[in-house]
Amino acid sequence: MSTSLNTALMAIALLVLALLRRVTQRRSVKNIQGPASPSLLFGHELALSHQADVGSLEFDWMRKYGATWRISGCFGTDILMTADPKASCASYAMQHIYQKTAYGYLKRASQNHFAYIIAGPGIVSATAAEDHNRHRKIMNPAFGPAHLRSFLPLFQRIGAKVTEKWKSDLAASDDTEVMMNRWLSRATLDIVGQAAFDYDYGAVEDGEGSALYKAYDKIFIGSYSKQVDYKPPKSVILFQATWDYIPESILKLFSHIPTAPFTTLRDINGQFMQYGRQILQEKRAEIEADKESSGKDIMSLLIKANTSADPKTRMSDEEMKAQMFTLTLAGHETTAATLTFLFYELTRHPEYQTRMRQEISDVRARVRARGDNDFSMEDLDSMTLCMNAIKETLRFHSVIPNLPRVASQDEVLPLAQPIVSTTGETISEIPISAGQVIMTSFAAYHRLTDVWGADADIWNPERFTRPEVGKQTNVGMFSNLMTFSAGVRGCLGWRFSVIEMQALLAELVENFNFAPPADKVEIDRAIAGLVMVPIVHGKEEMGKIMPIRVSLAQ
Ligand code: HEM
Ligand SMILES: *[C@@H]1O[C@H](CO)[C@@H](O)[C@H](O)[C@H]1NC(C)=O
Repeated sequence: MSTSLNTALMAIALLVLALLRRVTQRRSVKNIQGPASPSLLFGHELALSHQADVGSLEFDWMRKYGATWRISGCFGTDILMTADPKASCASYAMQHIYQKTAYGYLKRASQNHFAYIIAGPGIVSATAAEDHNRHRKIMNPAFGPAHLRSFLPLFQRIGAKVTEKWKSDLAASDDTEVMMNRWLSRATLDIVGQAAFDYDYGAVEDGEGSALYKAYDKIFIGSYSKQVDYKPPKSVILFQATWDYIPESILKLFSHIPTAPFTTLRDINGQFMQYGRQILQEKRAEIEADKESSGKDIMSLLIKANTSADPKTRMSDEEMKAQMFTLTLAGHETTAATLTFLFYELTRHPEYQTRMRQEISDVRARVRARGDNDFSMEDLDSMTLCMNAIKETLRFHSVIPNLPRVASQDEVLPLAQPIVSTTGETISEIPISAGQVIMTSFAAYHRLTDVWGADADIWNPERFTRPEVGKQTNVGMFSNLMTFSAGVRGCLGWRFSVIEMQALLAELVENFNFAPPADKVEIDRAIAGLVMVPIVHGKEEMGKIMPIRVSLAQ
């Protein structure tokens, strides 16, 4: 980053600081216990985004202060951090929808505006309640269980392609070391491209990937993640922190700033939109020519829905193109990272892996006996050991470990687990002012022993067979987990992702055995943007990698 930009950043930071001083919050959260601020400028935000193993800070704080505590944000602000299921639930619930057309708690601009800069006006960056509602309403049917079933053959086809690639490598040797995260990242990219807009990134084919894959790979999978996302520099952290106090109309101009990372992001956005325009025109022509057109991809559905929708629920071309890129971004690394950590756990729990393989081959025998080739949705759902491994990985390696929300008006935050204030009072609700930032720690919620059992700190899929586990709470989109967030802005693609993981897991575990690499490595969990990624301890310079030894299953 250039010196002049750094200077500009500092100037902005100081200006914001001056403005902040004038804002007197009526309801202070100073009475909530928490760690002392390590820095007036950065608070804990630098430490949180740079911690060597994601969650270690939060787990420590939770042990000391209980399920809700106070940390410091940039510029000396106070942030409430919570693992409390009731507080989290409240922060993600839709409250006051039509009141002043605002949601009770909003996304935090410093975290969310990147989605706008990269992808444009899609569902993730939509801030106004009426815009977001409209996006969500049009897109919901494409993510319903009935429609998602039709994607199962696609998930299986891409899984089989990975199998084919590995098998050809294994023709010459007994085992091979693969970068698991990269393979899964390619597989989930190909899947989301074809499901979302019938576009083949050709990523599993590697090297011969499409032009769009090459552009995308350069920025998100290759260098981008090292330069910008992974351990963002101090100037970027500060600069982004000011976004919380800048009106959206001005934030939107940031895409025009003529320096990195904005130039790079604008380039990829440009390339993507060019393809998006072309694909949109082709699809629309196809659908106009044949109303019954069989296009099952999400874009085709949305185009059809748009023609019949009442004017108020229509989506513009700009929004439609943004939607396609948004789905690519939201649906790809998240699923790949979750599966990567799942395979990592399988290398550490070989007995469980063997039992899973037995379960899969038992079901396979049933499928053959009835004369079928592929697992049906019911077949996959009957694989309980596999499903529990998926749930346990979503819990233990919550790839989005925390998300912030901002209260849009004065509120009282309810707690399921009371805490003791700095003055020794036991409190079970916290009055907060509009503007209060609340950081919900999904990772820490997933370690609450009251909810998950005394062994919450270890990976153990068997916990999901215990009748009492997760029953005390009723949060999230799936199995009381917060990994997919919750409420109106909860993950739209959670079911898509779970089915995708079921299909890929069954395919790969049936065919291959997974073991730790020959040279033992220690894996750390780092945060890249919002998503957690694996880093080999002591080899940070290699970026996100997860080496795993693969051999043919007997
Ligand atoms: C393991 C995989 C996944 C995880 C952990 C995950 C997690 C999340 C989380 C935490 C959010 C809330 C973000 C926020 O409020 O800032 C979210 C939103 C979203 N996710 Fe996912 N996601 C996954 C897979 C997918 C897939 C496969 C798709 C689509 C194919 C998808 C599409 C979306 C969309 C469209 C939103 C925005 C929803 C809205 O704002 O209304 N996600 N996801
Ligand atoms: C949706 O319909 C409106 C109004 O007919 C049209 O202007 C717009 O281009 C359509 N959007 C898409 C993505 O087809």
